[in-house]
Amino acid sequence: MRASIRARLLAAFLIVAITAAAGLSFYFLKELEGFALRKLEERLHTQARMLASVASTTYLNGAAEFSATDARKLQVTIADATPYAASRLRVLDADGVAIADSTPGDAGDLYGDRSEVRRALAGEYGAATRMTEEGRVALYVAVPILSNGDVRGVAYASSTTFSIMTLLRDYRLRMALVVALFAAFTLFMTELLSRWLSRPLQDLSVTAKAFAAGDHSVRAHPGGSSETRALAEAFNAMGDEVQRVVTELKEEERRKSRFVSDVSHELRTPLTAIRGGAETLLDGDVPEADARQFLETIIRESDRLTRLANDLLTLQRIEGATGELPLGRIDLRAAADRAIGALAPLTDARGVQVTAEGEAPTVLGDVDRIQQVIANLIDNASRMTGAGGHVRVLLSRDGDHAVLAVLDEGPGIPPEALPHLFERFYRAQISRDRSTGGAGLGLAIVKAIVTAHAGSIEAANRPEGGSAFTLRLPVIGD
Ligand SMILES: Nc1ncnc2c1ncn2[C@@H]1O[C@H](COP(=O)(O)OP(=O)(O)OP(=O)(O)O)[C@@H](O)[C@H]1O
Ligand SMILES: [Mg+2]
Repeated sequence: MRASIRARLLAAFLIVAITAAAGLSFYFLKELEGFALRKLEERLHTQARMLASVASTTYLNGAAEFSATDARKLQVTIADATPYAASRLRVLDADGVAIADSTPGDAGDLYGDRSEVRRALAGEYGAATRMTEEGRVALYVAVPILSNGDVRGVAYASSTTFSIMTLLRDYRLRMALVVALFAAFTLFMTELLSRWLSRPLQDLSVTAKAFAAGDHSVRAHPGGSSETRALAEAFNAMGDEVQRVVTELKEEERRKSRFVSDVSHELRTPLTAIRGGAETLLDGDVPEADARQFLETIIRESDRLTRLANDLLTLQRIEGATGELPLGRIDLRAAADRAIGALAPLTDARGVQVTAEGEAPTVLGDVDRIQQVIANLIDNASRMTGAGGHVRVLLSRDGDHAVLAVLDEGPGIPPEALPHLFERFYRAQISRDRSTGGAGLGLAIVKAIVTAHAGSIEAANRPEGGSAFTLRLPVIGD
């Protein structure tokens, strides 16, 4: 298992905190020790100098060596002073022999072999650190006692470093306590920090799991540091995108399945009619006139099936087309005239007069497809208009668009049907009657062709009655 953010942070912070605290403590204790030892040496030095001065001026008084009386008096002086001095004081003669000692009973000892004493006897300042007989570390300072420039003895001061060491041990303990407290505090802060850092990540991971399990609506709460915030926002953006794509796919799926059921529904009606007619004829015993009617039905329904197949194929070709349309310059007026001519047998049969008026600028496109658009619009318009009516195809220009409008005198379009007119298989209530309507693919084909030409088509009810279908196509520049 990989270490968590929490564990890593903790380890890093503890190492840094303890190293820093311990290092600093060690450094300061060392400094303190040096300082205290320097102070002790200064004190011993002062005391030794004073002792040397007193011994020289008061007792020696110009003599070459200390008399026995001097030694006794010195012994008393030293013994009196030491309880306040916290040091051991000695006076040595020119041979390094103690003639007075603040620790009573030790007079007569020889110190001439000690380095600091030898230095003092040579007229210099001497100092040394060494172990006492009791096993303690002590500092020794030796100063020459001079008389007329000659060394007559040594003032010798010493003190154990015991009190300093005790003090330092005490400090060391306190420092360790501080380091421990510091570590505990670091632990606490790290815990807080790691929670603050890892909580948004945990949230995000929970959200991501829910998302992966299929709930595409879950979103992360952006929180924590700017990085985790950015991560959550990126995740949410991805979520939005995935949700959108999934919604689109579902919508596409729904459209497809509706299309399939629409197609089979459209197929069923003519097929049932054909089968019914054929069965009746097979039975024989059908009067001549009826038989003819059944055959006509069969032919009509077969035509309907053929048209349905053709329309679906057309739609499929236009919408599935990846390449470009076969482009040519189109004179919309000429195309309208041809469409009117081609539909003349149908519109004449319906008793509807169809006329084209005006001119439109040249557009670029597939002339056969555009003619199909016009024909589909005229087919609908004439069917809705009814016998004796008039369908007008008006051509004009509107800015950089060529405009073709088909106006009829029919019942108009129910408002609730307006948004759906161009959908596949959509038929408004009014033409549910199968004898008048087709499959409801005409306007879907119109829409697909117009879209492929970067144009637009709009349906509206005219204030004076009837409907208007307005087609706009971009004019080509010269
Ligand atoms: N000029 C119009 N006036 C009133 N309603 C119309 C007009 N043109 C189309 N519609 C309505 O829009 C529906 C869809 O038209 P569309 O041309 O797509 O299908 P259709 O004419 O019924 O069948 P198809 O064109 O496939 O033979 C029609 O069924 C009709 O209800
Ligand atoms: Mg139609």
